[in-house]
Amino acid sequence: MTAPKKLFVKTYGCQMNVYDSERMAEALAPQGYEQTEVAAEADMILLNTCHIREKAAEKVYSELGRLKALKVDKPDLKIGVAGCVAQAEGEEIMRRQPAVDLVVGPQSYHRLPQMEAKLRDGRKALDTDFPAEDKFDTLRTRPKGRRAPAAFLTVQEGCDKFCAFCVVPYTRGAETSRPVSRILEEARDLVDRGVREITLLGQNVNAYHGTGPDGREWSLAQLIWALNEIDGLARIRFTTSHPNDMSDDLIEAHGSCKKLMPYLHLPVQSGSDRILKRMNRSHTAESYLRLIERIRAARPDIVLSGDFIVGFPEETEADFQATLDLIDAVGYGYAYSFKYSTRPGTPAAERALVDPAVADERLQRIQALITRHQTAVQEAMVGREVNVLVEKPGRAPGQMLGKSDHLHAVHIEQSSAQVGDLVPVRITQSKRNSLAAVTIR
Ligand code: 5AD
Ligand code: SF4
Repeated sequence: MTAPKKLFVKTYGCQMNVYDSERMAEALAPQGYEQTEVAAEADMILLNTCHIREKAAEKVYSELGRLKALKVDKPDLKIGVAGCVAQAEGEEIMRRQPAVDLVVGPQSYHRLPQMEAKLRDGRKALDTDFPAEDKFDTLRTRPKGRRAPAAFLTVQEGCDKFCAFCVVPYTRGAETSRPVSRILEEARDLVDRGVREITLLGQNVNAYHGTGPDGREWSLAQLIWALNEIDGLARIRFTTSHPNDMSDDLIEAHGSCKKLMPYLHLPVQSGSDRILKRMNRSHTAESYLRLIERIRAARPDIVLSGDFIVGFPEETEADFQATLDLIDAVGYGYAYSFKYSTRPGTPAAERALVDPAVADERLQRIQALITRHQTAVQEAMVGREVNVLVEKPGRAPGQMLGKSDHLHAVHIEQSSAQVGDLVPVRITQSKRNSLAAVTIR
């Protein structure tokens, strides 16, 4: 028997990349690859990359520059680039960094075994197709063995919205939804392996419209209700959503589906109608706020989060102020904010940039405001009783870490809970990015 080869995967970007990295490692396992956490030990290194902002893409090239040095002592080491940079730049990656042996896009990684065979023959391998076959069908059998209590499950990929700043419709392609039966099969398998919480993933997950067992198109809400029936599964979440796809049945599910958790990530990007129009968002600040009202009517304690871009081309101080006003009106429990980054090939790439110093200053102001709201939402949790899914032991003796129903990170002090337990706790304190709690006896 030959010793197993070692695979090192480094993941950048979104949660779907986390899921994809796991699936890539599974695809290479039959080729004799075992995962390692140490790059220097690896026989193959895969960077699963993100192209959403320029910084994310550039990080990959500096990492490749460093990794190249490992080939001096280990000439047989193979270096691969996967994910959205691979999709967007293809062959160009191998030209820019000749140490790269393999480039694979997010829709073709089920072909990794054949690509790896090519590498063994001393050739390079490139695949950035959008193949007709479904990668998940090829990767249907998943390994056995216990898993961490919270897992991701991709149900939808791609986006048809074409926001003017965004590369996703180009790197991940058109919207596609996996069939309901396959998702349920994968979810049951996860639960059999110890998973208690599943986060359904999609670039535009609430546009989900997969084929149901009845041959009809099912909505995300219908899928959630079917998952709700799985014994042993305690929690369901989904991300990321577009305001225009927040259908009535999904809002209603937030009110009535017990396993659907009271947290929703609903990016709006800007609070200025003028900028929203230029972003091709096809909703207004007002329509977004009305939507939030309806969601809160269905589930009053829901914690909301969002994404914001500052310094989008032509954004004025008044436009920016409208974004700050919207943040105040919503009261997000958490939000991500980014300085606009020009992405070649997107419509906004042609437009004049806001002065970078002004954009930097706006980013600081928006982040300070978001932090104030985050703190207020966290402080409002103090004294409340919530459930926590325990994920791992903490640093202090007797401390366990987990997530609340509202997706707050919680430290339970003096806990006898085990990983995977769902425990009722009382929140005692709000810290910077987490809450402290004690078990309710
Ligand atoms: N520049 C800055 N932020 C961007 N995002 C997407 N494209 C860009 C870009 N070109 C942000 C959006 C999106 C999140 C995932 O990343 O806010 O919701
Ligand atoms: Fe990108 Fe989201 Fe807009 Fe789709 S909806 S283009 S993924 S920002």
